[in-house]
Amino acid sequence: MASQPPPPDPADLDPVHWPSSRAQAHRMLDDILDHLEQVRERPVWQPIPDAVRAALRQPSPGGPTGLAEVHGEFLRLVLPYGAGNLHPAFMGWVHGAGNLAGMLGEMLAAGLNANLGGRDHMPVELERQVIRWVAGWFGLPAPAGGLFVTGTSMANFMAVLVARTATLGAPVRTRGLAGVPERLAAYTSAAAHACLPKAMDMAGLGRDALRILPVDRQGRLEPRALTAAIAADRAAGLTPFLLVGTAGTVDTGAVDDLAALAAIARTERLWFHVDGAYGALGILAPDLAPRLAGIQQADSIALDFHKWGQVPYDAGCILVRDGERLRATFAAPAAYLRQEARGLAAGAPWPCDFGPDLSRGFRALKTWFTLKVHGTERMGAMISRTCRLAQHLGARVEAAEALELLAPVTLNIVCFRHRGRDADALNQRIVTELQESGVAAPSTTVLDGRCAIRAAIVNHRTQVRDVDSLVAAVLEVGGRLARGPEA
Ligand SMILES: Cc1ncc(COP(=O)(O)O)c(C=O)c1O
Repeated sequence: MASQPPPPDPADLDPVHWPSSRAQAHRMLDDILDHLEQVRERPVWQPIPDAVRAALRQPSPGGPTGLAEVHGEFLRLVLPYGAGNLHPAFMGWVHGAGNLAGMLGEMLAAGLNANLGGRDHMPVELERQVIRWVAGWFGLPAPAGGLFVTGTSMANFMAVLVARTATLGAPVRTRGLAGVPERLAAYTSAAAHACLPKAMDMAGLGRDALRILPVDRQGRLEPRALTAAIAADRAAGLTPFLLVGTAGTVDTGAVDDLAALAAIARTERLWFHVDGAYGALGILAPDLAPRLAGIQQADSIALDFHKWGQVPYDAGCILVRDGERLRATFAAPAAYLRQEARGLAAGAPWPCDFGPDLSRGFRALKTWFTLKVHGTERMGAMISRTCRLAQHLGARVEAAEALELLAPVTLNIVCFRHRGRDADALNQRIVTELQESGVAAPSTTVLDGRCAIRAAIVNHRTQVRDVDSLVAAVLEVGGRLARGPEA
């Protein structure tokens, strides 16, 4: 008599019936592939209906629900209401669009469920290999080290901590800032990202210890203002310790004169960090790389693969010229984390000693897939194209009487606005209307006190026709709004 299969174990999380789970998994993959393939046919973004928000507000699920049913809910409630950054007409903020190879890499990473805090396994080796590639792009030689992190906000925070420890020595890690006599001062430009003052705050140094220096007409930190500020701080008994240059400012895409900043940092004995959140990957584009000259002299670099690198969120990265500096800043021994010469606990040094996280996901895999599948040359060509599109948009703006360009187009960001009475309110409304129409999704910023429409062309799917539709839509909506409510 054939034996009966054992009854399902209610505490087992694996599928009860693998063939049907496999079929469902394939359906889910097909659905998301359809979503990507048909991305152009949908609105960029659409407001979330109240009913959809309400439908998600359910009690915590006590019992099980079938995978197909949960996926059905995802298709109804979540998938249509994303931010739209997959769409070629998304040009808001600085968002990457992701890519299929990276998505599949992320899926495999989730299947593998690797913890890259440490131990001796190939996922850790793969992360080290990607870091070696990236360090090589910037000419950082062998002792360089680095880690994948959430994003540049985290990488910048880590750089502040590394610079602090490099300046004050190991005792600051035990005694804290209250236990050292030095009062530290750091320097960056008025165009630097807001995560830098936040990093100073989180590091316990305080936002006021970050000197926010003026920029020139191109949006680049003024070297003379920098040397004057350093001199003033030294005269006041402070210890200048950190200079942060930016490769691609968030508002306008300006690139600081990194070679000049590197020279000042060297003379003044400051840690030189480059926030290259999106701009640093311009190193892959032969026409853009020369603009980053000087980045090779940085003590540390922060960059994101989830922006220009098109790796699915999140995939930030910190590189440090002397990798041991990371260990000197973050290593924290614990009995249960002993690193051995053999066995699974081998593989020293472990990544957990190079950053704040112990448990770490496998962000490197989706990056490895993206880089291997496309190759750095195609990535560079894609990055270059976004900058050519920005030039095209800049030219279209300059050719339109109703529009004005508010900042030079350096990389892939164009800041402009529609002329008219009460132009700040007008341009804010234009952007909101465009977003709500689903036709295009630029964002806004404020430049010299004026509201700007900001188009950051980060997306590898964006084409000339998307840029042209944005211009047409701004002119149409702006013209209508400028004519007044009766129009
Ligand atoms: C220049 C710059 N620095 C830092 C950041 C913050 O990066 P993340 O969003 O990855 O934390 C950004 C984000 O756009 C940026 O443009």
